[in-house]
This record gives sequence, structure tokens and C-alpha cells, in this order.
Amino acid sequence: MSQHVLITGTGRPYALGFNLVKRYLEHGDSVFASVRRPSEALEELKRDYPDRLHILTMDIASTESVNAAAREAERLTDRLDLIVNNATTASADTMKELPDFDLDLIAPAVNVGAVGPVRVLKAFLPLLKKSAVGALVVNISSEAGSIGKCYRTFYLDYGTEKAALNMLEQPQHRA
Ligand SMILES: NC(=O)c1ccc[n+]([C@@H]2O[C@H](COP(=O)([O-])OP(=O)(O)OC[C@H]3O[C@@H](n4cnc5c(N)ncnc54)[C@H](OP(=O)(O)O)[C@@H]3O)[C@@H](O)[C@H]2O)c1
Repeated sequence: MSQHVLITGTGRPYALGFNLVKRYLEHGDSVFASVRRPSEALEELKRDYPDRLHILTMDIASTESVNAAAREAERLTDRLDLIVNNATTASADTMKELPDFDLDLIAPAVNVGAVGPVRVLKAFLPLLKKSAVGALVVNISSEAGSIGKCYRTFYLDYGTEKAALNMLEQPQHRA
């Protein structure tokens, strides 16, 4: 049975999000691919799948933007079976160590990488609840967010946002 899938952060042709979009389309699914700015590669892909690829504009740092994208999706589909929270960020200082790192860059990164996926889950929950097969939400974390395996002295922003994502998704398992 074909699925209705939402994937975030899909505009870069060499990156995971775009290639997941391609895979699900090749599999026969309908895909809602979100970008925060127009993507030529995605527009080109839409020419091959005009009926099953829907491009949504969504900045996951913004509740207003995510809610607007969810309303747009509700006009296009009656359900979602899968969300892949792929979009993430890292600041310009991500490879720097503490003495050189601008700590004010951490909170905005956490807003995107940890709060963003839960913002998406919350806004699209009504569509997920209409899935006939039991909807699935996949949050892509990273080994960089593991406290147990932490060995790096950089990735202060990226590691923190992924650790926060690991924590923030736990209550969703129990909901
Ligand atoms: N690459 C790795 O080695 C690796 C390892 C472990 C885990 N991961 C995880 O796997 C996933 C994919 O990795 P990747 O390397 O393919 O990703 P990537 O190339 O860094 O792409 C990230 C995507 O997120 C989008 N994005 C950033 N901020 C956003 C925002 N505020 N709202 C909406 N979209 C936003 C970017 O959009 P723009 O194009 O507009 O900037 C981009 O399309 C990520 O979650 C990453 O943390 C990757």
C-alpha cells in the first residue's frame, strides 16, 4: 500500500533528505517534501512526479511557518503515514572549541534541531492520526548527540541539539 510521507529539509540534491524523497517516489508513495527556500533540484524532480510530489515551504525554526505548512498539507491530503524529521542545522562555529565558540549560537541551533522536529510533529498530528496503518515519526539523531559516547571537544551546538532531540522525543513515545 502506498504511503503519504512528509520529509523535512529536502532541497539539497547531494544530501539525505532529497534522496529519501526520490526513494519514496520511486517506491510509489506520495511525498510532501519541505524546504525553507526554493530548490531547483526538487522542482526538477516534480516534473517527473507532478501528482505525487508536493513541495511545502517550511522553516522548522518558526511555529508560524510550520503551522502554515500543516494547513497547506491539510488542503492536499487527508492523512500522513510517515514523517521523517531530517532537517537540521549547525552554526558557523560548529568545528570550534569552547574558547573560540560563540555560545549565543547554541540556542538557535537547538531551536532548529531539537524543537523543530517536535514542532513539526505537533502541527501535523491531526494528519498523522488519520493514518489507517498507524503513523510513524522518524527523528534523525546523531552519534554526536550521545552523552555516553561523547569524546569530541567541538560540535557544541550540533551535539547539544541532537542530545536535546533525543530527550525531547522521549515523552512522544509515551503519549
Ligand atoms: N551527514 C552526516 O554525516 C550525518 C551523520 C549523522 C546524522 N546525520 C543527520 O542526518 C540528517 C541529514 O543529514 P545531511 O548531512 O544530509 O543534512 P544537510 O546536508 O546538513 O541538510 C540539512 C537540511 O536541513 C535544512 N534546514 C536547515 N535549517 C532549517 C530550518 N530552519 N528549517 C527547515 N529546514 C532547515 C537545510 O536547508 P537549506 O538547504 O535551506 O540550508 C538542509 O536541506 C540530519 O538530521 C543530520 O543531523 C547526518
